[in-house]
Amino acid sequence: MATDRPKVLIIGSGIAGLSAAIHFSTFSDVILLTKTTLDEGNTRYAQGGIAAVWADEDSFAEHKQDTLEAGAGLCRESAVDVCIEEGPARVKELIAWGVEFTRNADHPAEYDLHIEGGHHQRRILHAHDFTGLAIEEALIRKVKSLPGITLLPNRMAIDLIMEGKLSSQTSGKGLGRCLGAYALDTETHTISPIAADLTVLASGGTGKVYLYTSNPDVATGDGVAMAYRAGARIANMEFMQFHPTCLYHPSAKNFLITEALRGEGAVLRNLEGRDFMRDTHEMGSLAPRYVVSQAIDKELKRSGAPHVWLDVRHMKREDFATNFPQIHSMCEKFGIRAPEEMIPVVPAAHYMCGGVLVDEHARTSVEGLLALGETACTGLHGANRLASNSLLEGIVFSKRAADYARDTLVSHRPPRSLRTLPAWESGRAVDMEEQIDIAATWREIRTLMWNYVGIVRSDRRLLRARERLALIRHEVNEDYWKFRVSRDLIELRNLLTVSELIVESALRRKESRGLHVNVDYLESSSAEARDTII
Ligand code: FAD
Ligand code: SIN
Repeated sequence: MATDRPKVLIIGSGIAGLSAAIHFSTFSDVILLTKTTLDEGNTRYAQGGIAAVWADEDSFAEHKQDTLEAGAGLCRESAVDVCIEEGPARVKELIAWGVEFTRNADHPAEYDLHIEGGHHQRRILHAHDFTGLAIEEALIRKVKSLPGITLLPNRMAIDLIMEGKLSSQTSGKGLGRCLGAYALDTETHTISPIAADLTVLASGGTGKVYLYTSNPDVATGDGVAMAYRAGARIANMEFMQFHPTCLYHPSAKNFLITEALRGEGAVLRNLEGRDFMRDTHEMGSLAPRYVVSQAIDKELKRSGAPHVWLDVRHMKREDFATNFPQIHSMCEKFGIRAPEEMIPVVPAAHYMCGGVLVDEHARTSVEGLLALGETACTGLHGANRLASNSLLEGIVFSKRAADYARDTLVSHRPPRSLRTLPAWESGRAVDMEEQIDIAATWREIRTLMWNYVGIVRSDRRLLRARERLALIRHEVNEDYWKFRVSRDLIELRNLLTVSELIVESALRRKESRGLHVNVDYLESSSAEARDTII
């Protein structure tokens, strides 16, 4: 029987997209598309866990204080309050949906709580060191069990469909409201429009903008780039978080060594064996993440060494293997005999604190368009995210978004005339004969971003990056309109847009704050204590 339930399009199947699908499906039909397989995305690789006030000795006030301190004066307090106060209920929901967090070995009725950089209390629930996988699998099971959700893997959103671009139907200001998205079926290579009353960007992070990253290949910033092209406000893109400890090994691709190890006493050492964090911050190796990454960067530049060590030698082999099984087996695979031997680590691009600017209901500045998870900038993280606060943000805001939409969506649906959308126009585009240009340009952007827009920046290098990106833009735009679109070409274009947004935001911030360090303005300035909005 045909229904006239509202239709919600969700782009992305990480914690944000899947939990949104569960909540939205209570009152609307949901179409969820995802670029590759359902389980691929940053969520799947989360190790440390999910932060929430859980233990009796912890409090909302302390979690808030740690979040604000890590955020270096730029968190939006209302977003912090919402996340921290609603967090425990959302974590209980995850447990009800089947996520099995690790229990305390001595008190099995309780959960084991980890501690990570910047936290002053144990408050991180985890599933050993594969928390993200445990969450992702439980959410996929839940979503598959519910009616009203259509799952479309191998379907890549190309661009949002904007009312203002449908020539005869233009109304309102700017590009008007969002009416859905064009999606590429990466198996059949066909493109179709998907109409929706509400479109939710939950397409994850932007780590692939940098040469070295902890992120998987799908993290190319597509959501931010699409929202930008649709005229949405984008905030704080200069705040790319570099994780201090990714495995340094020529054959290891994107492998993280969780901060929870430092929570259990592991210490960073330089190649001379000195605990250099002890002289840098009162929390030593457990200082907020940006402090640790910047200290490692300084240490690597000072010594010319290719990596630093993570010293785990205080741990017993059986504890290491039981509590950190994934890291244990990865070390074994690469011939590193941890915990008896130290683990070689380097910083790598990890998490985008900025993104599509949203309010406390996940609404962007474009009507009909929401953003969730790593794609969004809710204000929770400010200038530096506190460890394990992002899984939390994903589940809290997906529920808030659905609750708000449940009350408002029916009266805000687009008129029927806008629910049938035109087919994708390929024009005279032809197939690209070879992919070599895409691969070379992709590498050029990522190398440029790593070398010129990395952990420590300067105006001179940022300006050079801006100039080079402008030249690359010229070439990429030409290819985009000349050739038939492919996943690679779409991602390249999005990577470029996100890189330009990062550089532009970094140039606008005339100070150093949190994750953004510019040697030309080494101090923070109260006049600059505001969001960078493009
Ligand atoms: P993702 O999980 O990245 O999902 C995005 C989805 O969108 C993917 O399915 C992707 O394929 C899809 N997609 C992207 N573009 C398109 C497109 N154009 N069309 C269709 N689909 C698209 N955070 C914590 O809080 N605790 C941790 O312990 C932790 N550990 C981490 C460890 C690693 C190695 C990494 C990389 C991140 C970690 N983080 C952690 C950060 C956290 O995992 C992410 O911020 C969070 O999972 C993001 O969830 P998400 O749903 O927004 O995006
Ligand atoms: C980690 O486990 O170190 C990553 C945690 C996070 O990114 O929040």
